[in-house]
Amino acid sequence: STGKKERDLPPTEAPSFAFAFDIDGVLLHVSKPIPGATETLRFLQEHNIPFILLTNGGGRHESERVADLSQKLGVPLTTSNFVQSHTPFQELVDDLADKTILVTGADADKCRAIAQAYGFKNVVTPADVMAVEPRVWPFETLMEEHYARTSKSLPSPVYEGPDAVVDTKTLGGKLKIDAMFVFNDPRDWALDIQIMVDLLLSQQGYLGTYSPKNGDLSLPNCGWQGDGQPALYFSNADLFWSTGYHLPRFGQGAFQAAIAGIWRRVTGGHELHRRVFGKPSTETYAFAERVLQRHRHELLKELGARHGPGRLGRVYMVGDNPESDIAGANGYQSEVGTEWASVLVKTGVWTPDRAGGEAVLKGQLKPSVITGDVREGVRWALEREG
Ligand code: G3P
Ligand code: MG
Repeated sequence: STGKKERDLPPTEAPSFAFAFDIDGVLLHVSKPIPGATETLRFLQEHNIPFILLTNGGGRHESERVADLSQKLGVPLTTSNFVQSHTPFQELVDDLADKTILVTGADADKCRAIAQAYGFKNVVTPADVMAVEPRVWPFETLMEEHYARTSKSLPSPVYEGPDAVVDTKTLGGKLKIDAMFVFNDPRDWALDIQIMVDLLLSQQGYLGTYSPKNGDLSLPNCGWQGDGQPALYFSNADLFWSTGYHLPRFGQGAFQAAIAGIWRRVTGGHELHRRVFGKPSTETYAFAERVLQRHRHELLKELGARHGPGRLGRVYMVGDNPESDIAGANGYQSEVGTEWASVLVKTGVWTPDRAGGEAVLKGQLKPSVITGDVREGVRWALEREG
């Protein structure tokens, strides 16, 4: 137990507060539960105190990841209280449903399956391009077998682009990519960055073409980067994340820094236009708040409540990464006036003797409280709520 007097809420009433838990570095180190995590989630479930899991992790469909988390943590979880890095991509499907997108991530073919489950119809991976044009990246021997096994045929030419001279003999036709999505941390940075930069430099997204204007945003029609609508989506910006190793490891933010650095060199100093989801982005916190509101309603309905749960006054965001969990919660202006408080635990990316210690916790990085672990963090919040 969390040492708190047993809280017996009448089932028809939900507390005016709830929790959002980061996963890596708070509940798990990769797949190993962090001490106190299971007991804490069980306590909240037994006392009908709503919570969601809010992670920058990704790469598997929500239903698959939630089943895995339930098994690893020994706590029944559902997709109704789970938000991962690319879950908000679901809200982009309408604008791009019949377009062609490129996706990549740890297992790009799995990311393809997730994108298709979200509703994207034409989904291409770097392996598909390699399968029809191995010269696109001449050093691919390491991954040849993997790409051969996971590639699929390219969607039939979806555009006869009169506005682009497709001077390529390769790819068997006119493959136009309208948007690119990074679902989670890519494994083959070289091939992914080569193809993504090829597309950013292309004429309107036709792979194999080149437009000298691209990158110089001051010029008219500098490709699809210049029309203001970024065609490049990342699912999180974590430079580091906490794993079973004693030092934090590079996350998707490191991949972003790599491709942005190459883009700056290739274009003579231009910033890479992109849209980044995940914590600390406002999109993701707003999306997570909507999920939490819905979940809180469902929880109360299951308890047989005759009326709604009342206003959600406060959410305690419990995280290990000041840049994503703490800054995101501190900076988020709720759509419905809910206060987001931030709890920093010492079991992940940040610890008092590492990552700059307490000296870096200034401004938006300053948490409402620092606790040893998730159990202490929840205890602190419950005492605060009285
Ligand atoms: O790839 C996972 C990493 O970026 C951090 O995940 O759960 O700490 O937000 P999480
Ligand atoms: Mg974390």
